[in-house]
Amino acid sequence: MKFLPLLSAALATGAAAAPKEGRIDRQRIVRSFNPHRTASSDETPLQVGNGNFAFGADVTGLQTFRRFATMSTWGWHSHALPEEEGQNDPEDFHGVEWPTHGRDVFYNIPNADQPVLSNWLRENPHRINLATIGFSFPDPDATEADLASPSQTLDLWTGVLTSSFQYEGADVRVETVADPASDAVAVTVKSSLLEDGALGLLFDFSYPTKDKFDAPFVGLYNRTDLHETTLTPGEGGAEIRHVLGETEYGVSLRWDGDAEISGPENGTHRYRLTTTEKTLRLTASFGKERPCGIPSVEKVRKHSEKWWEQFWKDGAFVDLSKVEDEGAKEIQRRAILSLYLIAVNSASDLPPQESGLVNNGWYGKFHMEMYLWHGIPFALWNHRPLLDRSLSHIYTDLLPHALALAERQGYTGARWGKMTGPDFSDAPGEINAMLIWQQPHPMYFAETELRGRRGAASEAEVLEKWDEVLTHSADFMASYAWLNESSGFYDLGAPLLPASENTDANATRNPTFELAYWRFGLDVAIRWKTLQGLEAPSAWLEVRDGLAPLPTAEINSTTGPTFPIYEGVPNMWTDNATTMDHPAMTGIYGLLPPPLSGPPLDIDTVRNTAEHIKEYWDLDQSFGWDFPMLAMNSLRLGDAQGAVDYLLHPTFAFDDAGYPIGGTRVPTPYFPSSSSFLWAVAMLAGGWEGAEGSHFPEGWKTMVEGFGPVL
Ligand SMILES: *[C@@H]1O[C@H](CO)[C@@H](O)[C@H](O)[C@H]1NC(C)=O
Ligand SMILES: *[C@@H]1O[C@H](CO)[C@@H](O)[C@H](O)[C@H]1NC(C)=O
Ligand SMILES: *[C@@H]1O[C@H](CO)[C@@H](O)[C@H](O)[C@H]1NC(C)=O
Ligand SMILES: *[C@@H]1O[C@H](CO)[C@@H](O)[C@H](O)[C@H]1NC(C)=O
Ligand SMILES: *[C@@H]1O[C@H](CO)[C@@H](O)[C@H](O)[C@H]1NC(C)=O
Ligand SMILES: *[C@@H]1O[C@H](CO)[C@@H](O)[C@H](O)[C@H]1NC(C)=O
Repeated sequence: MKFLPLLSAALATGAAAAPKEGRIDRQRIVRSFNPHRTASSDETPLQVGNGNFAFGADVTGLQTFRRFATMSTWGWHSHALPEEEGQNDPEDFHGVEWPTHGRDVFYNIPNADQPVLSNWLRENPHRINLATIGFSFPDPDATEADLASPSQTLDLWTGVLTSSFQYEGADVRVETVADPASDAVAVTVKSSLLEDGALGLLFDFSYPTKDKFDAPFVGLYNRTDLHETTLTPGEGGAEIRHVLGETEYGVSLRWDGDAEISGPENGTHRYRLTTTEKTLRLTASFGKERPCGIPSVEKVRKHSEKWWEQFWKDGAFVDLSKVEDEGAKEIQRRAILSLYLIAVNSASDLPPQESGLVNNGWYGKFHMEMYLWHGIPFALWNHRPLLDRSLSHIYTDLLPHALALAERQGYTGARWGKMTGPDFSDAPGEINAMLIWQQPHPMYFAETELRGRRGAASEAEVLEKWDEVLTHSADFMASYAWLNESSGFYDLGAPLLPASENTDANATRNPTFELAYWRFGLDVAIRWKTLQGLEAPSAWLEVRDGLAPLPTAEINSTTGPTFPIYEGVPNMWTDNATTMDHPAMTGIYGLLPPPLSGPPLDIDTVRNTAEHIKEYWDLDQSFGWDFPMLAMNSLRLGDAQGAVDYLLHPTFAFDDAGYPIGGTRVPTPYFPSSSSFLWAVAMLAGGWEGAEGSHFPEGWKTMVEGFGPVL
């Protein structure tokens, strides 16, 4: 196999060529996967949203019987820090010190003498459910079983959710749509039941739990004493302010015609909107500040139609509709629904949380090691602006914290945290403190941007833009690796946790994937300095050239070498506690291009490792990005059918509306599955550096538009 040097390939191809006009009938394909339901799902809503705001609906088109959430990038809350001696100031937190090859190093891990503060720092701030908007029926005990012929369809091409049902013989029709340009949802209801006030809309407000996972619903409705709501009626509308401790925001309502809002009902935060007409048109606009204007329902609908059509036209696209293979149909379905769902849930101003805006996982915080999986697919599918909503500023926002963490630990440069909230501080936790694979992500993002750039941005501009972040990242990476005097190599850890998070941190040294990723990161950083006509710091070169070689392991002398999780892991392939979780060593070929420096990657060992995984790995306990990563590894090894098989593995499941099922390990939805799936499809469609072009299984009649090679 031949590998082009990164740069010349970059100039030759560019990661995403502009799609050619309309060879593929995109509208027909997209609409053929419109989700259709006749009952609410217990686990997932149908959503309308814009990446920073999303509204999850049950089968009524609102949040009537299943109180799915209304969530945002900006809606967060903190419980008051309990009064505890020595623990009532976040600044007092002291974490733990662990011996780290010859010295004591501070780690951001909960410490036994500050349990309250340690927990508080993990649990706060947490994301909130902004409001519940549902129907109120004449019978307050009505359930979904009282509806006749419920039916709903989400039109992916326009972002409009249409729902209909009958209640006591009367038709109710509902249209729900979110504004791409503001955090507003617009609702149109048509029914004779509206006229006499029998059918109304109900607004309710919940209080945050202290649960790490708040799913499928978010918040409590029985802690009404802990928060306040106030109604201010106005002309053709009203505002409800919601105050929870220091968090305060409003829902501004605008309606057409003769409607009236009242409430709250005693002891609740429930408000009821009724009208005397057959049609109710309502926009609910959310924000900390009162909006200057609330868009009309018509305007929201027009925005949505226009935005989504443009989204489907601008992006890269793959047409598998002519492939005679059931698997291809499912891949097409997942790709279309995943694109919709990541645009609604993950295209936010901050990196997304794993469950997007559907519900809360890990308190609604985001995880910087997962950001790569969430982010890169936007670039690969030609939706760069959606990635730039967060990527354009997140690393500079985090930089002061990352510099301070490295300094506190006695390293130079910037050490990126893991579990992070809108205050950009890193939540205490053993896994959080021990992971290192988020560290070279800026190099991956930067390299992808450099190759995919087009239009105005010159190479010099991209290099300049990333320089500070890459320099601090590489400085840390060079100072984190330590010279093992007995081997003469630079080692990583112990202590650390590899991407798989299931090893003994104090025994984990030189994990395969992290070693390869360290080399990748330093290679990029060094090359970028050279491209700028600057000299790379000698420490970067010394560490890169002195990095420990990738470890190998074998079951016995007849089975051949493989890449283990880390150097010296006992019983690599024969202990079922090891052959589970993320098979991260396959990322050295699945996720990373072959190394630019050091010894060439031994492809036979990569292949033998892939075969061992097929044989020994407990894939039923794998989740999320494992399957796409294995697929990408298979693909580079020349096994396209194997790649497709991984993408369709029974444990890697997506529901009827495309939501990625969490499986045995994490709650539903787990959006890294969606984005990593799209990454793998982009690689099937556009190939990779040195092997550009489609790599679908033989005999697949496909059309692709707008893909370039991945790294
Ligand atoms: C690692 O070592 C530190 C310091 O000796 C100890 O406190 C900690 O419990 C160990 N961690 C694990 C996961 O064994
Ligand atoms: C409040 O509601 C939650 C879930 O809805 C329930 O688990 C909890 O027990 C309730 N608490 C009180 C005080 O009623
Ligand atoms: C609410 O409380 C008031 C005063 O206690 C009472 O008169 C009224 O009937 C109550 N309303 C409801 C709906 O319970
Ligand atoms: C240094 O490397 C050697 C060879 O890989 C290894 O056996 C040894 O444990 C390492 N030293 C430390 C302190 O980890
Ligand atoms: C080596 O390991 C393989 C896989 O466990 C086993 O099938 C084989 O019998 C072993 N060979 C020897 C010589 O032990
Ligand atoms: C490993 O195998 C043992 C014995 O079959 C079983 O009890 C244990 O649950 C397994 N552990 C895992 C992590 O699968």
